[in-house]
Amino acid sequence: MPSKLALVFGATGQIGSYMVDSLLDDGFFVFGVNRRTSVNNTWRLKKALANKARFTLLNGDITDSGSILRVFKELSDCYYEENGPVQIYNFAASSHVAVSFNEPTSNIDVTLKGHLNLLEVCRDNPYNFPTLLFFANSSETFGSQVDSSGFQYDNTLRQPNSPYAVAKLAAHHLNRIYRDSYGMQIASGTLFNTESPRRGETFVTRKITKWFGELVANRGLIKSKLQLGNLDACRDWTHACDTVKAIRLMMARPKLEDFLVASGQTHSIAQLLEAAYQTAVDAVHIELPPLQDCYEINNGFLRPNEVKYLKGWPEKLYRYGWKPSITFKQLVREMVISDIFLAGGKDYIKCLN
Ligand code: GDD
Repeated sequence: MPSKLALVFGATGQIGSYMVDSLLDDGFFVFGVNRRTSVNNTWRLKKALANKARFTLLNGDITDSGSILRVFKELSDCYYEENGPVQIYNFAASSHVAVSFNEPTSNIDVTLKGHLNLLEVCRDNPYNFPTLLFFANSSETFGSQVDSSGFQYDNTLRQPNSPYAVAKLAAHHLNRIYRDSYGMQIASGTLFNTESPRRGETFVTRKITKWFGELVANRGLIKSKLQLGNLDACRDWTHACDTVKAIRLMMARPKLEDFLVASGQTHSIAQLLEAAYQTAVDAVHIELPPLQDCYEINNGFLRPNEVKYLKGWPEKLYRYGWKPSITFKQLVREMVISDIFLAGGKDYIKCLN
């Protein structure tokens, strides 16, 4: 008889893939959902895909209710009442904030309408298995709002600055409405920036660490400068493994509620750049050029409207015993070293401890 069941939308993405790994490690039988694309995007699921007994990757698209229903049908064949509710995680989104200014309609289709489709299918689930639903909300929903103490809290006003954040905030409110109206078990977790070596290459952390990885592999010779936008923005960064632990903790509560996942610290993009550079300098035995020669500001990476400052206070998680296990410095180091390896520069690394 199979064990507890979980369904992960957005399983091929950064947090989705770590969630799949965590659930498998915990003995779950996991279904991942992957939107069919012409390029193979399953590299983050290498470990999970090797677990043929307990991991299945299904084709499906959250913007298409019929496809969600077909996924539910597959799941229902493996459902046993004694294993409790099916845990459903929604990480599917068009997650690039800058892109949402150019493609607002498709962003809202995936991020908001996609989630609404899932809520509706859970509400009228024809296969009748009970569900616990997690939605990955975003700290972008706060926009420019910060408490006078310098933190964003659960109850800080949310005033989005991008189409992406509008979609996330509307979905966040729908969760509350479905919880209150139909008694559904739904947790909306407001995730501050979440990073790891599995981060997509267009997000600023990975863009920077990948560039330094390539610089090392190229023996410190600059091919073309790193192009960056706003270096003054501040972000609250947590390692994806810590984020996943936090979400699992909240999903294990008897009654699901909304919460924040944040490190409680903030750094500017300039500080991130400096930390990544220093990590690379300290890690290798070749000489690297001075930092100011490595990058230039490219106005093309500025956004029409920016969220300037994020620093979250994850009150509920602290109360339930969570705190991040990986510091900002350790996170940057892990990403830089991983990118030096990926770029083929491992022979230049001094030591790995
Ligand atoms: N992407 C990018 N590229 N961002 C840059 C660059 C650049 O070249 N230069 C400066 N930045 C600044 C952005 O303007 C922003 O202030 C900050 O770096 C972080 O940008 P991203 O890494 O793209 O992440 P984000 O903060 O916009 O959004 C991420 O975090 C949200 C949660 O707070 C994404 O993961 C969202 O999906 C997530 O909801």
